[in-house]
Parts: sequence; C-alpha cells; structure tokens
Amino acid sequence: MSMPTLTAERTAHAVRLDSVTKTYGNVTALSGVSHDFPRGGFTAIMGPSGSGKSTFLHCASGLDQPSKGSVRIGGVDLGGLSEAKRTRLRRERIGFVFQSFNLIPSMDVEQNIVLPLQLAGTAPDPGWLAEVVRRVGLQDRLAHRPSELSGGQQQRAAVARALITRPEVVFADEPTGALDPRTARDVLRLLREAVDQTGQTVVLVTHDPMAAAWADSVVFLSGGRIVDELVAPSPTTVMTRWETL
Ligand SMILES: Nc1ncnc2c1ncn2[C@@H]1O[C@H](COP(=O)(O)OP(=O)(O)OP(=O)(O)O)[C@@H](O)[C@H]1O
Ligand SMILES: [Mg+2]
Repeated sequence: MSMPTLTAERTAHAVRLDSVTKTYGNVTALSGVSHDFPRGGFTAIMGPSGSGKSTFLHCASGLDQPSKGSVRIGGVDLGGLSEAKRTRLRRERIGFVFQSFNLIPSMDVEQNIVLPLQLAGTAPDPGWLAEVVRRVGLQDRLAHRPSELSGGQQQRAAVARALITRPEVVFADEPTGALDPRTARDVLRLLREAVDQTGQTVVLVTHDPMAAAWADSVVFLSGGRIVDELVAPSPTTVMTRWETL
C-alpha cells in the first residue's frame, strides 16, 4: 500500500511546515519555523545572507530533513517516508529551479527539459512539451547544448525542466540572481503564469524587492525565524520592510 501515500490530496495548503528546526553541528539554521503555503499561491522568501532561506527551501521540498518538526506536501508527512519514497514524491510532485541552473552539459536543451520525466519513467506529452517550450521561448534552441545558450536562456531551460512534470509546487532559489532585469522579468512571468494559468504553487527565494513584488506574499526570515509576512507586496513596501529587518 505504498502508492496512495504519495498521491495528491486537495488540502488547502500545498506545503505545511510545523515547528521546523534545522541544526548543523552547533549552528541553528532554522529555529521552530511554522508556515502554510496556500495551494495556487506565489510566496517569496526574503532575508539577509545566512538567515536560513536555502535551508528553509531544502527542508520544505524534502531535499533535506529537519532536525525537529514536520513538513507536509499536501497530506503527506515527509518524515514518515523512506528516502526512496521521498525521492519519488519529489520527482512526481515538485519542481526545482536553482541559481546555478544545474543543466546537464552533454545533453541538448530538449533532453534537459524532459529529463525529470525520463527519471520518473514517463513519456513526455508532446502538447505539454510544446506549450512549456513556447512559454520559455526556446523553440529554436532545442537542439543546442547548454554551453551554446546565454545565461538567461539556460535559466529559462531550467524553468521549463521544473514545469515539465506539472509539479504541484515549484521551489526556486534565487533563479534571477544572475540575470539582467529584462530576462529576470521573463523568468518571473513564467513562474507567475504557472500560478495563474495552471494553479501551481510557487515558492521563490530572492534578494530582489522587484522580484518579490511578483508574489502574493513575502515571508521575511531573520536568524532562522520568520519575523514578518507582507501580503500583496509592492517593490516599495518590500524595500521599506527589508531596510528595517
Ligand atoms: N551544510 C551546512 N553545514 C553547516 N552550516 C550550514 C550548512 N548549510 C547552511 N549552514 C549555515 O546555516 C545558516 C543558514 O544558511 P542558508 O544557506 O540557509 O542561508 P541563506 O539565507 O540561504 O543565505 P544566502 O542568502 O547567503 O544564500 C548559515 O549560518 C550557514 O552557514
Ligand atoms: Mg541561500
């Protein structure tokens, strides 16, 4: 009876963290963090360097395990899963975009985009593949290697790879950090469309108030704790809150 534990359930939250603490030796990276990410919501996470943003993302996505507390994806408690089942749940229900792209250099763009499906043992749906490729604007680059693409095109390929499995939740760790403002806007628009057009849930770590303003709400971390949340953010309100963090 392993299958049903991993299937999606219509909980109001897409992801729920309950009193999550993460320690590395004597460093406390996260300290008793609780938060619900609403299904079909776009949440930005901001905070100073070292405040625990990446740790938060890794724990919330099942890439890493909390030292204390629990994480649920939909109705599934990740703490109750074996490593193999957590990996399968990640593959089937979660997409990742990393700042460093993490594309496979020896594969062309199309092979990179469909890799998560291949790992899950499923064939790409040609209609959805075409739609995702159209959204990221890489129609004429599919046969190129990542090294033949600009940084912005590589990041858009990484976004396509995150969306191809139609994940319930997309986690992105500073996906626009290395991009010029216009390309950054393209990537943010893609994430916004995933929420507005396909009802997916997006969690975005960023240092940039302009990027955070694309979200429905901004969660502020400081010293491993959530210290504030700003609903319906604008670049100005984010900046103002950020300056007094
Ligand atoms: N593997 C690890 N071993 C030891 N300490 C770690 C490890 N990963 C993170 N930390 C520590 O945990 C704290 C939070 O790190 P984290 O990477 O979550 O910060 P961050 O908010 O993402 O910072 P940045 O904006 O610089 O990416 C830091 O003090 C960091 O040094
Ligand atoms: Mg980080």
